[in-house]
Amino acid sequence: LKLGVMASGNGSNFEAVAEAIAQQQLNAQIQVLIYNNPGAKAAARAEKCGVPAVLLNHRDFNSREELDQKIVETLQQYQVEWVIMAGWMRVVTQVLVDAFPDRIINIHPSLLPSFKGINAVEQALNTGVKITGCTVHLVSVEVDSGKILLQAAVPILPDDTLETLHTRIQIQEHKILPQAIAICQRSHFLGTGEEVASQC
Ligand code: GRF
Repeated sequence: LKLGVMASGNGSNFEAVAEAIAQQQLNAQIQVLIYNNPGAKAAARAEKCGVPAVLLNHRDFNSREELDQKIVETLQQYQVEWVIMAGWMRVVTQVLVDAFPDRIINIHPSLLPSFKGINAVEQALNTGVKITGCTVHLVSVEVDSGKILLQAAVPILPDDTLETLHTRIQIQEHKILPQAIAICQRSHFLGTGEEVASQC
């Protein structure tokens, strides 16, 4: 399966997917990393893995649609079949969604539908819930609302900070993102709409 990954910052989820491929847990290739912030650590990780990294800086485009059009062209140029949004911090438009219908997945640091949008980890911490987690879902134009593929639950401990909680969530993200891609791959090749059991 030919993957394109989109990331805005750190890129630890990009690396988790690359690592799953290297460990042969996932039969796929990352064709390209698209990133939007110059100097993003994700780009350095891509270089380390030998994956081409393309900077598409949203500040250089007049609209979200123009950026997404360039993203689509780049993904097509690299023959991408499935798109993985791994910490892509831009709202996507119909332009991208229509080019890869039901072929874009996102990882979000909460148990959706709770805590959509940015600051999901902080929202969970401030709300006082005792369990949060992460979700891999299909992308639609409505933010953090597409079909849920896989989730993992993570406890919130009494003395958690934003950092300690996010670190605990990311350990699970790095497991369920490659697993969800494998599930998508099976349904892609078998043409089944396979339903997915929850992780925990
Ligand atoms: C992750 O927590 C993901 O859920 C959110 O952005 C973060 C990206 O982390 N969408 P990284 O850049 O992969 O380390």
